[in-house]
Amino acid sequence: MTTKNTFYVTTPIYYPSDKLHIGHAYTSVAADTIAKFKELQGYDTMFLTGSDEHGQKIERKAAEAGKKPKVYVDEIVATFKALWERLEVDYDYFIRTTEDRHEEVVQEIFRKIYNKGDIYKGKYEGWYCTPCEAFWTERQLEGEKLCPDCGREVEWVEEESYFFKLSKYADRLLKHIKDNPDFIQPESRRNEMISFIEQGLDDLSVSRTTFDWGIPVPIDDKHVIYVWLDALSNYITAIGYLNDDENFNKYWPADIHLVGKDILRFHTIIWPIILMSLDLPLPKQVFGHGWLLTKTGKMSKSKGNVVDPNILIDDFGVDPIRYYLLREVAFGTDGTYSTEALIQRINSDLANDLGNLLNRTISMVEQYFNGVIPKSGLAEDVDEELKRFAAKTLELVDNSMSELKYAVALEEIWNLIRRTNKYIDQTTPWVLARDDNKKDRLGTVLYNLLESLRITAGLLKPFLVETPYKIGEQIGIRDMIEETNWDDLATWGLLPTGGIVSKAEPIFPRIDMEEYFAMVEERKKEQTVKEEKEGNDKQTGSGLINFDDFSKVDLRVAEILTAENIEKSNKLLKLQVDLGDEQRQLVAGIAKHYQPADLVGKKILMVANLEPATIFGVKSKGMILAASNDDGDLTITTVDKEISNGSRVK
Ligand code: ME8
Ligand code: MG
Repeated sequence: MTTKNTFYVTTPIYYPSDKLHIGHAYTSVAADTIAKFKELQGYDTMFLTGSDEHGQKIERKAAEAGKKPKVYVDEIVATFKALWERLEVDYDYFIRTTEDRHEEVVQEIFRKIYNKGDIYKGKYEGWYCTPCEAFWTERQLEGEKLCPDCGREVEWVEEESYFFKLSKYADRLLKHIKDNPDFIQPESRRNEMISFIEQGLDDLSVSRTTFDWGIPVPIDDKHVIYVWLDALSNYITAIGYLNDDENFNKYWPADIHLVGKDILRFHTIIWPIILMSLDLPLPKQVFGHGWLLTKTGKMSKSKGNVVDPNILIDDFGVDPIRYYLLREVAFGTDGTYSTEALIQRINSDLANDLGNLLNRTISMVEQYFNGVIPKSGLAEDVDEELKRFAAKTLELVDNSMSELKYAVALEEIWNLIRRTNKYIDQTTPWVLARDDNKKDRLGTVLYNLLESLRITAGLLKPFLVETPYKIGEQIGIRDMIEETNWDDLATWGLLPTGGIVSKAEPIFPRIDMEEYFAMVEERKKEQTVKEEKEGNDKQTGSGLINFDDFSKVDLRVAEILTAENIEKSNKLLKLQVDLGDEQRQLVAGIAKHYQPADLVGKKILMVANLEPATIFGVKSKGMILAASNDDGDLTITTVDKEISNGSRVK
């Protein structure tokens, strides 16, 4: 590779509303791999990931957790970064949509589109899916009140809103998609998007007024900017749009936006139209990959089938996980995660094919040459064949990666590994070793084995993050592997003669499937026991607090004056209460257990000095006390005798 070119790849920015699961790891490992691959080929790469922190969904999740949105997202974002570190997902920048530069530039983007005449004020009446942060028309819902994307219930929204003229750009977008077959990949998804756009595009509501957790509309601060307009802009704010022209021009347009199929629509309709309105070039490609499912369907907290990548890394190490994710599923289609399949991959591909090749080779160098890398002599046909196979592998890997066919690329590398194992059988070094006259030939054979392993290690660098260096370590060329580039891999014979291999040690221990699952069962049991014990400790008081701790809580008797439902929430009630010398408004999560009318006049216990919060746009100062159990029963706490409002509870 002689030309130094740039390559800009992105993952979606994830919602910090929960911990990430193996499905998210799948997207990020894929993006990381293509970035590392391009780097190996000499590109100046930019790999962006981050978190999508605004919007109604996050605001609600934070409220449910009883936290301020920023505090809530800070905690979760820390878990994202920790996971990427463990998986060695080496992003160049992690954008948070709450950072100042992003917020300011998004306001500028809104202003530019508005000044261009592509945003106008109107009224939105329609359906909204909060988990997806998506608007839906009656037509799209086909008579149901369920989100066509995620299947959850949609909410009716009626509010003043700014609209973005998607309709104005529909023809131009369609032409772009048709003229540029690479723009949307894979092919099947491209066709889906084309027929979606052909049905016509409605203008898009791009502001909301009923909650606060977003970037204010610069021309009208009653409104916050629609979270997808905010989120999609990350791809340009992160590299310096309207802020650092040099960097922006260096990397834009992006080479690939990697996204899951569920958010392809946002990336191939809204995003390009934003860019058109800003007079910016469109990304070269949006690739919509499939989902990683489990045997019980899509992963979700409520189904309890969420696979935590951290546990898998603990149990198996990072490379087996990366290998499995990239190897097991064809990148465009859906695939099913299974631990059995993961263990099988570890045992057959990693431990057997690759691990054994390395182990056998190093052992022979130790045994026959005291660990010194021998000289390569005259090449025979079988040697030339191996060389040609390695060169061809490079070409095939390159081709597969240009279409993001990770599984195929790995299959090609494994073909080289298997071909090299076959070379051992063809050349029978143990037979050569018996004959002193064959010492040179034996040296050549072992040199070729090591050389094939050097090339394999280099080829694996984008996919695996420890293995290439472990191989390098054992061959005694760790530095060489670290610095290797594509040209080095294309050149047979770079391995220096005379180096020392280290002791042969298996790099992938075999996993006993039965033992593993027995261990998992055992761990589950221990976990349950531990949780029960912690529960008991709480009740019997090993987490003791002293009186000072307790007296920090200002508990009072309050009388409920009014109670009403909060729009769009089936859990929450808005209460006005009397505390003797003042009245308070607060929000209580008791709507499923009490009719508002039945609460009026009741004297309840409340925490009066809790930090105020805004929940569903309603200010809340204080919290009423209620008792609940695992069966879902709930009762508020009242007083036994008449006592004046505001009395202290101690
Ligand atoms: O959609 N298999 O964020 P998100 C494969 N904030 N991919 C999966 C998956 C699975 N089981 N589950 C989720 C958002 N994903 C927005 C993006 S971008 C400007 C804003 C993928 O946290 C999913 O397909 O809900 C999506 O690409 C990504 O995780 C982010 O999901
Ligand atoms: Mg999602």
